[in-house]
Amino acid sequence: MSPETLAERLAAGSAPPVAADAVSIVIFGGAGDLAHRKLLPALYNLLIDGLLPPRVAIVGVGRRDFDDAGFRAFAKDGVTKFSRRPIDDARWKTFAESLFFVNVDLGDENGFVRLGARLDTVEHERGLPGNRVYYLAVPPSLFVPTVEGLRHARFIAPPDGKQFARLIVEKPIGHDLQSAREINDAIAKSFDERQIFRIDHYLGKETVQNILVLRFANSFFEPLFNQKYIDHVQITVAETEGVGTRAGYYEQAGALRDMVQNHLLQLLALVATEPPHSLDPDVIRDEKLEVVQSLRPLTPDTIDASVVRGQYAAGFDMGKPVPGYRDEDGVKPASTTETFVALKLFIDNWRWAGVPFFLRTGKRLPKRASEISIQLKEVPPILFNRNAASRLDANVLTIRIQPDEGFALGISSKVPGPRVQIYPVNMDFRYGSTFGASSPEAYERLLLDVMAGDATLFMRRDSVEASWQWVSPILDRWTERADADLPKYAAGSWGPAEADRLIGSTGRTWRQL
Ligand SMILES: NC(=O)c1ccc[n+]([C@@H]2O[C@H](COP(=O)([O-])OP(=O)(O)OC[C@H]3O[C@@H](n4cnc5c(N)ncnc54)[C@H](OP(=O)(O)O)[C@@H]3O)[C@@H](O)[C@H]2O)c1
Repeated sequence: MSPETLAERLAAGSAPPVAADAVSIVIFGGAGDLAHRKLLPALYNLLIDGLLPPRVAIVGVGRRDFDDAGFRAFAKDGVTKFSRRPIDDARWKTFAESLFFVNVDLGDENGFVRLGARLDTVEHERGLPGNRVYYLAVPPSLFVPTVEGLRHARFIAPPDGKQFARLIVEKPIGHDLQSAREINDAIAKSFDERQIFRIDHYLGKETVQNILVLRFANSFFEPLFNQKYIDHVQITVAETEGVGTRAGYYEQAGALRDMVQNHLLQLLALVATEPPHSLDPDVIRDEKLEVVQSLRPLTPDTIDASVVRGQYAAGFDMGKPVPGYRDEDGVKPASTTETFVALKLFIDNWRWAGVPFFLRTGKRLPKRASEISIQLKEVPPILFNRNAASRLDANVLTIRIQPDEGFALGISSKVPGPRVQIYPVNMDFRYGSTFGASSPEAYERLLLDVMAGDATLFMRRDSVEASWQWVSPILDRWTERADADLPKYAAGSWGPAEADRLIGSTGRTWRQL
């Protein structure tokens, strides 16, 4: 097993790890959308980069009536449509030879017996030692039954054994604290926490990984990251799409569960974390957990004043008329599911005392963009900033997670000429133009890390549950006030007016993206 952690690789400034151990990757839900669009293209790109172990088997599992050839054709279609790099015939042949499919209904008691027999054959033929990564790309209702099936079939090597067994769990992990705990408890009966890799694919994005580097590999920023210099922080994750074909899931979830509880709070934790004393995965995860645990608890009163929800009404997407949420396929005509959330929150620790963090996310917003902006305090109203009618813009550090990955520093500069005229300018760093090649997809990085046994970019149980704990009062309040008005916003706008008032009441405005 590779002993290298992300920590060691980062510290050594080294190239990414080769997942050297021969491994079988078993994808439950291998014929599903996630496998088609993300997992199979990611694995193919790892092969192109020479990062897949030379000996590997990728075994799809599902009820679909595929044989190996059918699964290979399905994978080829996914790679052709969704891979960041085109198919290369020779490489494809190698990749295709590692793909297998086992037709199993996870509700069928004998299913795991057949799966085990096939895995044994494939591993024997390919000279694989029985290291296994199990990927739960099935509906969440099947997470626990699948894990129990693995345990009953004795498919799980012990954590410190000669072979490894690792489990990748997709989101959502529960729909509230109680259900998350139940899933985590059930999985813990079969897998040790060290064997569990809970995916938040945001954490696999290059720019998100760069947050720690930006903060702790540069002396510019860290001394400023505290209540003395920072006025406020904004985190926006905006989508232009509507609910599409996902109404079945989204009606039960909504924006708070779908985006805030996981992705936005994880971004917040990275931006606000204390410097870890080492780059050990658990040390970093301990520090991130501290941030979530330091969030000021919300009460019914503070929720009403600091959390805004909204739902999109009919409007426009790129000039094209689009229906409102309630008119989408599969959505109840009187649905109260929120498609937008904006929040103001505080981290009650020494570093961030009194600094508001504004978070917003929504569907059918005007632009697909994820960004974190750290706004510094204004310079004093003297010298260049003494004119009350035209105050200088405060400095701002913007971390663009997508698109146009990179970061920008908004600063003030003198306009050339005899007069002292000051203008806001941007120092802009773009991954694409600086490093050339397209960045790896999040799933490439995450799959590679699981094969290497590095959990830094995965969510630990305590962190998932701490996040649910923090959002739970909001869910309770909204259930309690189910009949309360749910502000609407036109599709293609930046959310309801209430979101502008939320930030406006503090004398600030949302950044224009
Ligand atoms: N798609 C995404 O972009 C995305 C993003 C984030 C998280 N996720 C999560 O990833 C998981 C998979 O999502 P998905 O979009 O890929 O869903 P999907 O397209 O519905 O795929 C689910 C897969 O599970 C299989 N399955 C369902 N019941 C089964 C059973 N009884 N026995 C064996 N296989 C069964 C289905 O195959 P058969 O019908 O052939 O059995 C199908 O291949 C979900 O938990 C989802 O929340 C997905």
